[in-house]
Amino acid sequence: MGYVRGLGRSDARIRESADRDPVSFWEGQARLLDWHTPWKEPLAWEPPRARWFEGGRINACYNALDRHPDKSKTAILWEAEDGSSRAVSYAQLLAEAERAAGALRSMGVSKGDRVAVYLPMVPELPAAMLACARIGAVHTVVFSGFSAAALRQRLEDSGAKALITADGMYRRGRALPLKPAADEASRGLDVRAVVVKRTGQEVRMGPRDLWWDELEGSAPAVPVGSSDPLFILYTSGTTGRPKGVLHGTGGYLTHVHSTFRWAFDIRGTDVYYCTADVGWVTGHSYVVYGPLMCGATQVIYEGAPDYPAPERTWRVCSKYGATILYTTPTALRMLMRRGDPPPGCDLSKLRLLGTVGEPINPEVWKWYYESVGGRRCPVIDTWWQTETGGMMISALPGIEELEPRPGSATFAVPGVKVSVLDESGAEAKAGERGFLAVDGPWPGMMTGLWGDEERYAEYWEKYPGKYYAGDYAVRDADGYVWVLGRADDVLSVSGHRLGTAELESALVEHPGVAEAAVCGVPDEVRGESIAAFAVLREGASCGSAELSDWMRSRMGAIAAPSRMYVVARLPKTRSGKIMRRLLRDLVEGRKIGDTSTMEDPGAVQDVRSAVGRA
Ligand code: WTA
Repeated sequence: MGYVRGLGRSDARIRESADRDPVSFWEGQARLLDWHTPWKEPLAWEPPRARWFEGGRINACYNALDRHPDKSKTAILWEAEDGSSRAVSYAQLLAEAERAAGALRSMGVSKGDRVAVYLPMVPELPAAMLACARIGAVHTVVFSGFSAAALRQRLEDSGAKALITADGMYRRGRALPLKPAADEASRGLDVRAVVVKRTGQEVRMGPRDLWWDELEGSAPAVPVGSSDPLFILYTSGTTGRPKGVLHGTGGYLTHVHSTFRWAFDIRGTDVYYCTADVGWVTGHSYVVYGPLMCGATQVIYEGAPDYPAPERTWRVCSKYGATILYTTPTALRMLMRRGDPPPGCDLSKLRLLGTVGEPINPEVWKWYYESVGGRRCPVIDTWWQTETGGMMISALPGIEELEPRPGSATFAVPGVKVSVLDESGAEAKAGERGFLAVDGPWPGMMTGLWGDEERYAEYWEKYPGKYYAGDYAVRDADGYVWVLGRADDVLSVSGHRLGTAELESALVEHPGVAEAAVCGVPDEVRGESIAAFAVLREGASCGSAELSDWMRSRMGAIAAPSRMYVVARLPKTRSGKIMRRLLRDLVEGRKIGDTSTMEDPGAVQDVRSAVGRA
C-alpha cells in the first residue's frame, strides 16, 4: 500500500545466525557490552529459571555512562514543563550518578539493598537509578503519579532502605507536593529520604533526610554477577497485590541494548524522544538503559503531554529536532483527535516512529505514518511486557526491511521465538485467535517475582516450558502476529496495566464498601477506562463521587474510575465469581447473554437501574 519499507540496512545474517543457534547468537550480542569478567556459561536453563551469562560480571551504570569515549556528548535534552530546558552531557550525568552512588553508600546502602525512587521526569531520575546500579543496589521506581498508599505498599514489599524523591513536581502549570506523600508512605518504616529540589516548595525534612544537591561522595562502578538483580518494577496482575517483577543485569542489558539498536537504527546524530514516564518499564528499558548504553542523545519532557496545549508533543519534537519518536497509541489517539500537527511545528527531521503498550488501531497507525511522519518514516509497533524486559515482537528497521501491516507488531525479534497457541497448546491456525506464548528463555526475561516464587511459576504452567504472556493474538496467513489485548482480568488504561482485583481491593478498603467489582469499558482515547461498582455496608451512605476520590487517593489518578456506581447487589456466578463481562455489557447498554449460571438474576436489574440513573 505504498508505505515506506525499512531503511535498507538489510542484514539477513543476523536472522540467520539467530535461527541457527540462538544462545551463541545472544553471546555475540552480549559481547557488544563491557564485561568486567567474561561469563563461563552462556545459559543455565532449568525451566522455568534461566540464568544468562553465568559467571560473568558486569555493571549497568558503567555500560550506560563510563564506557563512552566522548562524554561531552549530550545525553539528555531536558524540557521542563514551563518550556525552559537543560542539556545534560554524559560527563555530567556520570558525575551525578557517581556522587549519589557515593552518598548512598555512606548512608549504609550496599549491594543487593533496595532503593525506591519516586521522582517526576527530571534528569535526576535516571541519575538516581544509575547511582543505585553503580553500587549494585536494586532500584524500584514508583511512578510519581502514584499515591502515598501505593508507594507504601511498594516500600514495604521491597524492604527499601532509602527513598529518593523530590520536594514537588510540576503538572499542568501547578506545583504539586511530592515529599508529603513520601513522608506518609514511609511513616514508621526505616527508610532514609534523599530529596531533589524541583519546585522549591517548603517541605519537612526529617533529621536523617538529605538534599540531593548536598550529597557528597563518589563510588566506582562495582561489577555484579550477571544474574544479580538490577531492579524491581511493580506491575499489576490478576490478584490484589502488584507483582514485583525482578530483572537481572547481564541478560537484561544485552536484550535492551540490541533491541534498541535493531528497532531504532540509532545513529550518532539522532535525537531520540520516547514519551514514556520512567516509572513504567518502557522508561526503564528505552529511556534509561537502551539509549544510554548506545550513547544516544534523547529528549526527556517533564510535564503533562497536553499542557499548555494538546500539541505539546509536536512542539517538543520540533524544538529539539527529534529524529525518532517512540510513544503510545493512547497518546496518538489523543493527539489525532485534535487534528494534524500545527503548521508551526517542524517535524521534518523525524525519520522513524514507534509505538508500544497497546494494540494500535490501523487508522491511528495511518495517521501517524501520514500526518506525523509525512510518509517518510517507518512506523514500528513493538510488543513486549514488563516481564520480558525488552521488545519481543517488532519490525526492526535497523536490520531489515519489512512490508508493514498497520495494527500488526509483525515478527519476533532475532533470537526470540513466539507462538500463538490454542487451549491445548497446539499452534493456532492462521486467522484463529489464540494465546501468545514465548518459547523461552530469552536474555531480557525477568529473573523472578520479588518474594513470590509461586506466582513466577504460574507464567510457565499453562504451556509447560513456554512463557504464557496473558495476551490474545492471531497470526495471519503470512505469519505476521497481531496482538489483540489481554486475555486475563487486567485492564489497560492508557496502556497501563491495572488488575481488576487490585482495583477492587482498593475500593473495598473504603470503610463504607462491602463488595466491589470493576470492569473495563472501551474508551476512544485511553483504550479502556474503569467502570466500578460498589455494594455498601449496612448503614453506610457514601456517594459515587466520594468513592471515586477514594480510588484516586488509594492508587493514583490513573485508577480513578470514569464511572462509579453504587448498587445493591453484584451479579455473580453460582460459584461466587463476579460476572465482569456482564457488567460491561450492562454499562455499554448491550443485550446481555445467558444468565443461567447466575446466582441471583435480580442483581442484573439492580445494576441496570444504577447505570440508568447515572
Ligand atoms: C500490551 C509495556 C499490543 C499487552 C511495554 C502486554 C501491547 C502489556 C503492545 C504489557 C503492542 C504492549 N501491541 N499490545 N505493541 N505492547 N502491549 O508490562 O497487553 O506495561 O501484555 O509493558 O501491554 O504491559 P507492560
